[in-house]
Amino acid sequence: MKAKDLRRKYIEFFVSKGHKEIKSASLIPENDPTCLFTTAGMHPLVPYLQGARHPAGIRLVDFQKCIRTGDIDEVGDAVHLTFFEMLGNWSLGDYFKNEAIHFSFEFLTGKEWLNIPLERLAFTVFAGDDDAPFDAEAFELWRSLGVPEVRIARLPKKDNWWGPAGQTGPCGPDTEMFYWTGDQPAPEVFDPSDKLWVEIWNDVFMQYDKQPDGTFLPLAQRNVDTGMGLERVTAVLQGKKSCYETELFTPIFAELDTIRRQPAPARRCSSERIIADHLRAAVFILADGITPGNVDQAYVLRRLIRRAIREGRKLDIAGEFTARLAGVVIAEFGDVYPELTAQRAVILEELAKEEKQFALTLEKGTREFEKLISRVPEHVQKKIISGKNAFYLYETYGFPLELTVEMAKERGFEVDGAGFTAAFEKHQELSRKGAEQKFKGGLADNSEATALLHTATHLLQAALRKVLGTHVEQRGSNITAERLRFDFSHEAKMTPEELKAAEALVNDAIRRAIPVVCEEMELEAAQRKGAMGLFGERYGERVKVYSIGDVSCEICGGPHAQNTADLGQFKILKEESSSRGVRRIKAVLVK
Ligand code: ALA
Repeated sequence: MKAKDLRRKYIEFFVSKGHKEIKSASLIPENDPTCLFTTAGMHPLVPYLQGARHPAGIRLVDFQKCIRTGDIDEVGDAVHLTFFEMLGNWSLGDYFKNEAIHFSFEFLTGKEWLNIPLERLAFTVFAGDDDAPFDAEAFELWRSLGVPEVRIARLPKKDNWWGPAGQTGPCGPDTEMFYWTGDQPAPEVFDPSDKLWVEIWNDVFMQYDKQPDGTFLPLAQRNVDTGMGLERVTAVLQGKKSCYETELFTPIFAELDTIRRQPAPARRCSSERIIADHLRAAVFILADGITPGNVDQAYVLRRLIRRAIREGRKLDIAGEFTARLAGVVIAEFGDVYPELTAQRAVILEELAKEEKQFALTLEKGTREFEKLISRVPEHVQKKIISGKNAFYLYETYGFPLELTVEMAKERGFEVDGAGFTAAFEKHQELSRKGAEQKFKGGLADNSEATALLHTATHLLQAALRKVLGTHVEQRGSNITAERLRFDFSHEAKMTPEELKAAEALVNDAIRRAIPVVCEEMELEAAQRKGAMGLFGERYGERVKVYSIGDVSCEICGGPHAQNTADLGQFKILKEESSSRGVRRIKAVLVK
């Protein structure tokens, strides 16, 4: 089965079970300060899992684009991906374990669906501990569907529990479904540690609310949240050992072969996989409005592109190649994700710019290399480039160790490889710690302070459009209980006068004590009303529209203040560049 058929069947199946299809949200979380990227299908749905009303209803299904950078250094092996798609279905306080498990079973084994023989399937359920009991209900449900007991493993929290994404909040046991990938028939007894059993789907039963004191109370609204990795499931259903062998990647590799003027190798190497993965991720991030830069998402994007280029050098690709591969990604995924086609010109242009800039960096690095070796006197017997210096060339100029070693050898130098590894590992340890901080999942904060700043953000956008012009559009928003951060399209640095004018407009709206009104309507009606912010909605879908008098009208999930008078005083702290063509404002509300 092709990936596109899997996507289609999944949606079709859950629509037939009363679910509404919703569109993949942006890769850039809208109001979650704890995450740089959308990491799971449930991520954009957090407010609804916590009880807010979703305009599309209480049964949802989608495929969601996701980025996980936690394992970025593992990319290159057969399984790790930075960008992936997650199929998911949700019950927002509607059905629970019984229907969820029946749906999963029917989709996996049903003749007109995935048609997987039961012999190839195994399951895990939560074993129970001091916090919550053994999930006997899930266990019995699988049994009642004919699954032998020896094929249902009971595992602890570490394996069969999802969430809370932050410290507190909705969470619960999950049940995972495994597929036997071996050539021989599957063993009768399921051993989850056997690598031939591959996890393909996860049904999370959100029934607890973790409290600040660490206890687990029953959640008012019980939800189902499921996730199926599209690439992985496509691979196992096709009998492929790696998702890189599926049609999701092969056209990218084919173009790479053409660029290299090489026949397709029997097996793809790690450099080829990194290039394919990183450029696929880069294309999707660019399509969501981020351009390469030195902070946050823009920095991750830059690293992805540069690493792909470095790997290209290892494969002896001398010229520019990223835009050509991006063209293939856009052609392959553009029908499913129209934003790729819409942003095609920007994506290709940004890649070409970054590639040119990086080529210069590599040139500078070569000069730095020359400086380093010129410091060693001629008469020294054993000429060595220290691990620290080799790592410096790697980190600052993007020199792969292999390149330094090669260049060193030409000049009669050796490189302290062990020293390089030590420096590299120390750095990895540090950046992993940083990444854990940055990329740890997080429930959006729904506090009142955040809601007030959210309303201030809408007022700010309206003010900026008045002061600077209607080219101003939201490029990102990140709100904590303390401050708002708003990224928007605008080329030039704002003048002090412009900043003052924008601030004054927001404060004027606050003084006028305007009620914030929320209405639900069809997307078309929202557009007729002139609502801004068509992020991720599709025609026919019902959306929430927040209006603030004649000042602002935006499609938005909320939450918001009830009246602008609640906001206090609005103050802009800083205006700076975020990335090319995008400015960033940080602002607060003072009581
Ligand atoms: N949120 C769950 C996961 O990502 C379904 O596995």
